[in-house]
Amino acid sequence: MKLLVTGGAGFIGSAVVRLAVAQGHSVVNLDALTYAACLENVASVADSPLYAFEQADICDRDAMDRIFAAHQPDAVMHLAAESHVDRSIDGPGAFIQTNVTGTYTLLEAARSYWQGAGKPEGFRFHHISTDEVFGSLGKTGQFTEDTPYDPRSPYSASKAASDHLVRAWGETYGLPIIMTNCSNNYGPFHFPEKLVPVVILKALAGEPIPVYGDGANVRDWLFVEDHADALLTVLTKGELGRSYNIGGENEVSNLDLVKMICALLDDRHPSAAPHADLITFVADRPGHDQRYAIDPTRIRAELNWQPSVTVEEGLARTVDWYLENEDWWRALQNRQGVGERLGTA
Ligand SMILES: NC(=O)c1ccc[n+]([C@@H]2O[C@H](COP(=O)([O-])OP(=O)(O)OC[C@H]3O[C@@H](n4cnc5c(N)ncnc54)[C@H](O)[C@@H]3O)[C@@H](O)[C@H]2O)c1
Repeated sequence: MKLLVTGGAGFIGSAVVRLAVAQGHSVVNLDALTYAACLENVASVADSPLYAFEQADICDRDAMDRIFAAHQPDAVMHLAAESHVDRSIDGPGAFIQTNVTGTYTLLEAARSYWQGAGKPEGFRFHHISTDEVFGSLGKTGQFTEDTPYDPRSPYSASKAASDHLVRAWGETYGLPIIMTNCSNNYGPFHFPEKLVPVVILKALAGEPIPVYGDGANVRDWLFVEDHADALLTVLTKGELGRSYNIGGENEVSNLDLVKMICALLDDRHPSAAPHADLITFVADRPGHDQRYAIDPTRIRAELNWQPSVTVEEGLARTVDWYLENEDWWRALQNRQGVGERLGTA
């Protein structure tokens, strides 16, 4: 298949690009190269005859029309987004622009291309979204595909809006859409403003490791390469018009996750005192969702998909990757806002 992957220079998009090329798909990586992008993430496939890159903004309709016409993709995997909740608190405008207007623009370009090509049956517009659109859980319960939307941050509200647009384009125009909502990812190439790399890099630097609030917020962690595998499974085997929740059934509180990373570093990169001594509780994020948990029954039962690694295994691989790839993360630490506390408004 020829795939148009938006956001392929980001964290998850690049994992999709690498895996799709490895599986023999042709991939056009469409990315605006914002602060969160890094073409190093796809360096391993950059010379492949199956790979092409287009620098473009999904809000630019002319550019989208040109790219669809030039590459004639069989499917779109839409991951381009502003993705950092803390930044959405400080500056929600960019999130509305890319996640809402950009998704609308891409949908319209995809619709025009699909209609112009005679509505090919196999075409797919796969929208990649987050479990954060469902809001916050108490101590029990899990998000299913039927959980009502209840987004509580500018980021999750903008992703919820994009989900609604994609569903509407499916219902109203018959655009062949498919959707996924995934839990928190972690793994190699994770931009150094997100929790897992922040903890690893602060610990390696011997600096305070910030934990928001009391650290009791629970997330369902999924290794990024398992997410990429799930996405390609849904794209190729999923039922049109359907949405699939993707999760690892690895619920861990933020504090426990930080302690797990500290223990891995104590083992691999010992310092005078245990790394956990660096844990420092800081003011909570405004509107911080308490708990997310995914019920993955649909993707497991219908598509026979399950994650390949536990959170323990995935975190060990991630810590090892950061220890072995200092050049990659050092180069990103100078980018605007990285290493600063954001989103305290
Ligand atoms: N990170 C997670 O844990 C998680 C979980 C579930 C779903 N998601 C979703 O997966 C997708 C990818 O997330 P990520 O963590 O890889 O994000 P990321 O921030 O690492 O990467 C986003 C990529 O999109 C590109 N981009 C941003 N605005 C663009 C625009 N206007 N036009 C073209 N490209 C643009 C950026 O340059 C970057 O390469 C997002 O849609 C996100 O909502 C993320």
